[in-house]
Amino acid sequence: MVIPMKRTALVTGASRGIGRAIALRLAADGATVAVNYRRDEAAAADTVSAVERAGGTARAYRAAIGDSDAVAAMVDAVRTDLGPVDLLVSNAGTASRGTAIADTGEDEYLRLLRVHTLGPLELVRLLLPDLRAAGRADVIVVSSVIVDRAPANGAAYTMAKVALEAAARTLAAEERGAGVRVNIVAPGLVATDMGDRLVAATAGTTIAELDGRFPFGRVARPEDVAGVVAFLAGQDADYLTGQRISVDGGGMPAGIL
Ligand SMILES: NC(=O)c1ccc[n+]([C@@H]2O[C@H](COP(=O)([O-])OP(=O)(O)OC[C@H]3O[C@@H](n4cnc5c(N)ncnc54)[C@H](OP(=O)(O)O)[C@@H]3O)[C@@H](O)[C@H]2O)c1
Repeated sequence: MVIPMKRTALVTGASRGIGRAIALRLAADGATVAVNYRRDEAAAADTVSAVERAGGTARAYRAAIGDSDAVAAMVDAVRTDLGPVDLLVSNAGTASRGTAIADTGEDEYLRLLRVHTLGPLELVRLLLPDLRAAGRADVIVVSSVIVDRAPANGAAYTMAKVALEAAARTLAAEERGAGVRVNIVAPGLVATDMGDRLVAATAGTTIAELDGRFPFGRVARPEDVAGVVAFLAGQDADYLTGQRISVDGGGMPAGIL
């Protein structure tokens, strides 16, 4: 028997890609979902419509993660509209410019840190009163297997994800007593707009052309990541915290990214 997930979830970067799939999946499992996005209002509205067509409840909230004022206003609006949040999926992210350390200035490192680490931590800080009061609450962060490999020309992105993972583990230790579970999901290459751009820039090809070289005959789909997030947010993961799950089919093929 599937127990419906009676939760209020905030999913950042849920207008497209992995975040959209997570929003759809959590809503299908019974959660009410706040769909955060940065600027693609039409895509966010489409995510909300897709949730509603499937019988779920969602609402879109614009705020660039990393913009403190916008994030604070979003948290207030979500609380007013949907009530306290007991599930945060920190997924919003952006790629770095793909330059070598020799050619990367401080601004680029700070830009990536703000989106992937400092912004999410600010959001967590604002939501902690809700999360601590929930009894069971979850923070799930979307990192990347790139942390394990640190390929050339990716320092700003890799460093930001490393910092995110360190912060998540620290948060897990600090908030365990309050019932807040904190876990990390680390995808390999996923077929999204970001994945498409990465493959075009680094391998000069398309994701569709790479399918045959990947585990199980395909590059991961956003739904593969969403399923793991749903597991971590569900009853079966009640006794997990401070863990990291890679969603890469057991390892990315050599020479990709
Ligand atoms: N795709 C991959 O191969 C891959 C692999 C490993 C990890 N990841 C990670 O997975 C996460 C999602 O990636 P994706 O592939 O789904 O990316 P995507 O297709 O480019 O979608 C990015 C989403 O994040 C939103 N976003 C970007 N910056 C934001 C900000 N500052 N504040 C709020 N929302 C923001 C975008 O909103 P708008 O639509 O409004 O622009 C969009 O909804 C990222 O953290 C990424 O680092 C991706």
